[in-house]
Amino acid sequence: MDFKRTLITTALPYANGPVHIGHLAGVYVPADIYARYLRLQGRDVLMIGGSDEHGVPITIKARKEGVTPQDIVDRYHKIIKDSFHDLGISFDIYSRTTSKIHHDTASDFFTRINDQGKFVKKTSLQPYDAEAGEFLADRYVTGTCPRCGAEGAFGDQCEKCGSSLNATDLINPRSVLTSAPITMKETTHWYLPLDQYEEALRHWILDEHKEWRTNVYGQCKSWLDLGLQPRAVSRDLNWGVPVPLEGAQGKVLYVWFDAPIGYVSNTKELLPDTWEQWWKSPDSRIIHFIGKDNIVFHCIVFPAMLMAYGDGFQLPDNVPSNEFLNLEGDKISTSRNWAVWLHEYLQEFPGKQDVLRYVLTANAPEAKDNDFTWGDFQTRNNSELVATLGNFVNRAIVLTHKYFDGVVPEPGELFEIDKRALAEIRDVKEQLTEAMETFHFREAASKAMEIARIGNRYLQETEPWKVAKTDLKRTATILYIALQICGDLAVAFEPILPFMSQKLCAMLKIGTPVADVAEPKAPGLSWDMIGRDDIVKAGTKLGEPVLLFEKIEDDAIEAQKQKLAESKRLNEIANFKAEPQAPEVDFDTFSKCDLRVGTVLECKKVPKADKLLQFLIDDGLEKRTIVSGIAKYYQPEELVGKQVCFIANLPSRKLKGVTSQGMILSAVNADGSLSLITPIKETTPGAKIS
Ligand code: MF3
Ligand code: ZN
Repeated sequence: MDFKRTLITTALPYANGPVHIGHLAGVYVPADIYARYLRLQGRDVLMIGGSDEHGVPITIKARKEGVTPQDIVDRYHKIIKDSFHDLGISFDIYSRTTSKIHHDTASDFFTRINDQGKFVKKTSLQPYDAEAGEFLADRYVTGTCPRCGAEGAFGDQCEKCGSSLNATDLINPRSVLTSAPITMKETTHWYLPLDQYEEALRHWILDEHKEWRTNVYGQCKSWLDLGLQPRAVSRDLNWGVPVPLEGAQGKVLYVWFDAPIGYVSNTKELLPDTWEQWWKSPDSRIIHFIGKDNIVFHCIVFPAMLMAYGDGFQLPDNVPSNEFLNLEGDKISTSRNWAVWLHEYLQEFPGKQDVLRYVLTANAPEAKDNDFTWGDFQTRNNSELVATLGNFVNRAIVLTHKYFDGVVPEPGELFEIDKRALAEIRDVKEQLTEAMETFHFREAASKAMEIARIGNRYLQETEPWKVAKTDLKRTATILYIALQICGDLAVAFEPILPFMSQKLCAMLKIGTPVADVAEPKAPGLSWDMIGRDDIVKAGTKLGEPVLLFEKIEDDAIEAQKQKLAESKRLNEIANFKAEPQAPEVDFDTFSKCDLRVGTVLECKKVPKADKLLQFLIDDGLEKRTIVSGIAKYYQPEELVGKQVCFIANLPSRKLKGVTSQGMILSAVNADGSLSLITPIKETTPGAKIS
């Protein structure tokens, strides 16, 4: 089927926090690559995005901070939008679901489906806070976890043991709003009877879309095999799109009902007159880029909504959902601050947008969950972007400046080796195109890098720096070919590395200069330039050589690892559970222990033992030496003159050749670090602790 237009949608991120590398790898980088690729192919494309600004978590965050939900979404919408822009994500529009046009569009969806009698109205008992006079979303109910007994579990999940729960499973369920015990009260909602669309969905997905990724197809199949149930499309909440009916005060559309309609609203906002073409014309196709937790909503619920709505809306042609990206071996988590936040990355690695784009693509979780590590980030930058891609381009351009004054030389007759390099590139181009067409962007990154490898091999084999000593004409041909390969790279990598491509185009004087990389249009390049032998024209004066990539040093990587270690530490502290109390001891047993206060006279590191400090203590009797394993947490100098507590009557023992007469007391913190115990006021050395 030949399509005239492609509408690309990207999952609307919740505006209750910034976006992180997991979002980027799952949705926005692949979608941007695909949109840029299609533009280079000269195909008509729209890339739609926006913030998802409704839902319970936003109201909870607002309540916690004592601000309004609108304040929360205004704050994060701006952070998210700016950071996408700065990463070069080339949205045609990035809007938001609190916009008027979205409220109108979502209301219209509800009304039209309702007018056709396609919703089912049902009454059920829901948790209610009689004191506040409000129904409670699951997240607003708290109580004791029935599985692990932890206090403070929520009506949807226990954060201690991770079980998913229903609000009514909780022991002593209370309202988060007032702490009042919850009651159950009848409420009426509108349900979309998914069961009635099951057959149509089965046929559409299982028979007609066997080409979808196996993870997507498989998830759909298991949902369908379980049998679909009616789903409520409204909630009792005061934040969202109001249910557009008389008598529905206090009820809003469920966030998962309104959010996907955001794709439609945003298209309308961008193209008030022609938006319908993109959604309803059979020669348009819709592609949803999402993460795997969104599959059911995009492949089952939203299509069923569109079927119910009717009026010519088309279903998506493909839903290339990714799996999850982990970070240094652990699941990315907003609440545990285990993430690399885009807005922070952009500040901490200025000018390195493409490095992140590249690493997230080369390591994309396309078929299975994958791991982002800072070590891999550094290696891919240093050995692929710098040593392979950057190095090739740099050599070709610097040599042209050296031998031909920066003017692209006229080529002579092509030798076998020249023709072979060009032929190899045309081969790679075919594979690269196939990878792009089928959403295999990891493969695409590796194929594009293959072009740089071909270039490096070509220079290695032809050695223009040697040939130049005897044969400038042949050198001209070699550099001409090398510059064409640079041109190939500028085009082939444009979807993945648009910032690099912009710089390279400026050096090669190809394409049209772009002021803003995030602008949604092809920068005067086209995909069919790849593999041609006249991309860069002879006689062109090249621009000044600039470095495309620079090495990332260990200290920058260390700083990022430290930052994560600090997050881990703060989490350990937040999740610290004190050990259960030890069995009783009688008083006599305790008093056998001779505990005392002493003053530190001297303190130094024990040679060849990185954990140990050696103390000389004034213990009120004479002086004694004690060795203590706290060197990681204190500098010896800072302890001299301080008072510590110690056990005086332990048998002495040798540690790394030093005889220790007793033990200094310290407390073990949640993260395993140690705190020395010291009296709260100046104490006589030798004073007994009782
Ligand atoms: N906000 C949702 C999430 O982050 C995604 C919404 S996608 C849309 O999981 F279809 F609803 F727009
Ligand atoms: Zn639990």
